[in-house]
Amino acid sequence: MTALSLTSTASFHALETHAVEAEDWQMRSLFAADPDRFERMSIEAAGLFLDYSKNRLDGRTLELLTALARERGVEGRRDAMFAGDKINNTENRAVLHTALRAPQGAQLNVDGQDVGADVHAVLARIKTFTDAVRSGEWLGHTGKPITDIVNIGIGGSDLGPKMVCLALRQYSHPRLTLHFVSNVDGHDMDAALENVDPETTLFIIASKTFTTAETMMNAQTARMWFVAHAPEEALAKHFVAVSTNVEAIKAFGIDPANMFPFWDWVGGRYSVWSAIGLPVALAVGFGYFSDFLAGAHAMDQHFLTAPVEENMPMLLALVGFWNRQFLGCTSVTIAPYHQDLNRFPAYLQQLDMESNGKRVTRDGEPVDTPTCPAIWGEPGTNGQHAYFQLLHQGTDVTPIDFIAALRPAHELHNHHTALLANCFAQSEAFMKGKTIDEVRVDLQQQGLALAEIERLAPHKTFPGNRPSNTILMEYLTPATLGALIALYEHKTFVQGVIWDLNSFDQWGVELGKVLAKKIEAELAGAPAPEQHDSSTNGLIARAKAAV
Ligand code: F6P
Repeated sequence: MTALSLTSTASFHALETHAVEAEDWQMRSLFAADPDRFERMSIEAAGLFLDYSKNRLDGRTLELLTALARERGVEGRRDAMFAGDKINNTENRAVLHTALRAPQGAQLNVDGQDVGADVHAVLARIKTFTDAVRSGEWLGHTGKPITDIVNIGIGGSDLGPKMVCLALRQYSHPRLTLHFVSNVDGHDMDAALENVDPETTLFIIASKTFTTAETMMNAQTARMWFVAHAPEEALAKHFVAVSTNVEAIKAFGIDPANMFPFWDWVGGRYSVWSAIGLPVALAVGFGYFSDFLAGAHAMDQHFLTAPVEENMPMLLALVGFWNRQFLGCTSVTIAPYHQDLNRFPAYLQQLDMESNGKRVTRDGEPVDTPTCPAIWGEPGTNGQHAYFQLLHQGTDVTPIDFIAALRPAHELHNHHTALLANCFAQSEAFMKGKTIDEVRVDLQQQGLALAEIERLAPHKTFPGNRPSNTILMEYLTPATLGALIALYEHKTFVQGVIWDLNSFDQWGVELGKVLAKKIEAELAGAPAPEQHDSSTNGLIARAKAAV
């Protein structure tokens, strides 16, 4: 049965009418009129605190948005996901990253298979292996402990483990240095190999499909480099694989005993909780990896049980939907005020844009509203000195998610005070702005002449009224990081349900892959008849002339 289009629903109509009334709202006035706004528009769950009060909405907006979530069947679709229904309808797959972080004993069958038992069997193997590498019991082929780990993967097989290893660097084993090679650009592999010793390096080949062109090329290069420095039988001590494709791993020459499996019901961008998280478990140890899973599970439980009105991922999604649909915001900035989260915006780019960057519904009908905004960002305070100018005074309104830990993992307390001050000041500035009259008063107080005041005032005026969320945690720990990632996963899911998208396929990446194969052959082979448009033919010709 074809679902009702989003714009045909009663709650969407009600929101449209409401949005017209809300058009001229000023957040300054909303705050002034309601001293309890912060209390009412903030929520705590799974070790995270979300303040969404600095958005251009009121209690009625939230009522209408929660009604929309119900009318779109968010709760039912959520339950179907957790139950293992095949909600990925273009690939006919269940979507069960939540099962990867469920405690031992959780019962769930997919196609007659006990998913919980499978998950915990692999976790036990991850524990044994990572304990051995970390303790120094696992030795390289010349009898030395491992010092360097090179993870070779791309997309979800890179962004998650890399982001988490950076975020949890305070918890890392001092002997182990993690390297991540993702790009087919040889500069990436070259830089990694320059810094490692074949006697003490462990390579992880991470690929769900074990067919991804970049990863396969990088894996072959690493293998060739290794066997140029060590006997081939030594591969077993230095190469492990993480995949769903055991046959391809055998064909590559990795012993299945060195393979950590996962399953087709784990999407690449949702896979850091699976064996794809092996670099994380190696770096921080199985205990902290378990805490990371437990933090995500706590958010899962909240998402699964809290009513829409008190459900953090649902609220984050609904506020984001409001900004996208009714404020016309085409992008969202992620501003982690925590240097160790510096890859978090890149991680969210894949999570959100590969999930919801779609233009047809689950039934293949064109959507009737805009969908996923572009996601981008850098850690604060760096972004403030680069692109915040546009956020404050540019013509587009770009909502911001500020993310901060209340306590640092270092002793430089004055730095942390300055960091938090900047974070809170920015959200205040975006909300309040500075009116032209306030600017005039300032300039008068500085003693400027009237003509000069009038010349400068427009440049110094801030429109304000720009939306932001602030997410706080006490410390950035494995558990709070797990909860934070799960929060955004579920936010993405809820928005996908509202737009009626399949958030779990990614056909949009295929065309470029096919064309790249063809052009790669043309670049490597003898001159071929010109087969493309004049631009592509011209670019190929220039590249061939350069070799
Ligand atoms: O091409 C996109 C994609 O399929 C992502 O969804 C995925 O995370 C990435 O490639 C890597 O895929 P794999 O883990 O199969 O190598």
